[in-house]
Amino acid sequence: VKKVRTVHLQQAKDVGEKFAMLTSYDALTATIFDGAGIDILLIGDSAGNNVLGHESTLTITVDEMIPLVKAVSTAAQRAMVVADLPFGSYEQSPAQAVATAVRFMKEGGAHAIKMEATAHHVDHVRTLVAAGVPVMAHIGFTPQSEHALGGFRVQGRTGGDILQETALALEEAGAFCLLMEMTRSDVTASINRAVRVPIIGIGAGAETSGQVLVWQDAFGLRDGKMARFVKQYANLFETLTDGAKAYRTDVRSGAYPAPEHRFDS
Ligand code: KIV
Ligand code: NA
Repeated sequence: VKKVRTVHLQQAKDVGEKFAMLTSYDALTATIFDGAGIDILLIGDSAGNNVLGHESTLTITVDEMIPLVKAVSTAAQRAMVVADLPFGSYEQSPAQAVATAVRFMKEGGAHAIKMEATAHHVDHVRTLVAAGVPVMAHIGFTPQSEHALGGFRVQGRTGGDILQETALALEEAGAFCLLMEMTRSDVTASINRAVRVPIIGIGAGAETSGQVLVWQDAFGLRDGKMARFVKQYANLFETLTDGAKAYRTDVRSGAYPAPEHRFDS
């Protein structure tokens, strides 16, 4: 199979086609999503919440993420595998960002990295790209700055001029793609016209080349209230709860294991 590469994502934007990205943190979901034609698999720092049970994305470490990246990159045949630089693993300097990115690509087998970026990270992106690391720059609402931004809120409400300047600077520094989170649709649309590179949105409206969702949100593995931008395509929470209850009932009643599950002779 032909691998999805940065050039293909650029071609998609150039001809007006769209592509789909999901998070994945393990080999089995990577196999399923890759086989279903998902173009990009992201090992997000959201693995902190969704895999390790952390309260936010802030506390996951590079060491915790590398085995997950490796599982996904080993399983994926076609999809581009992107690893998220976690909080504290890149901010200090462009050199720190390169060191972390190299670990994700060398030890984890990632094809590219994603980095939450502001105007302060333009040099980080430039240095990463010079080192041969494809960079997806994440702008708008950046969850690692949750406490600095005053919580989860839509960005660009008061006009997207600063965001657009940041987007253009990150593109100029060599980012192959921008990821925009929770931005006003018209702000996204205007930035999408201003930059040449493709934009992937999450809660950023429809005028992007791609969309991304956290898989546990998209398929309802997680209970509780979802963000407005989540469309739920399945209810795995219910499916697994029903399955676990039925199994427990069968074990307690002795209905399982039935003769066909036994080695009786
Ligand atoms: O960590 C994550 O899951 C993300 C998203 C953009 C989906 O950064
Ligand atoms: Na993230």
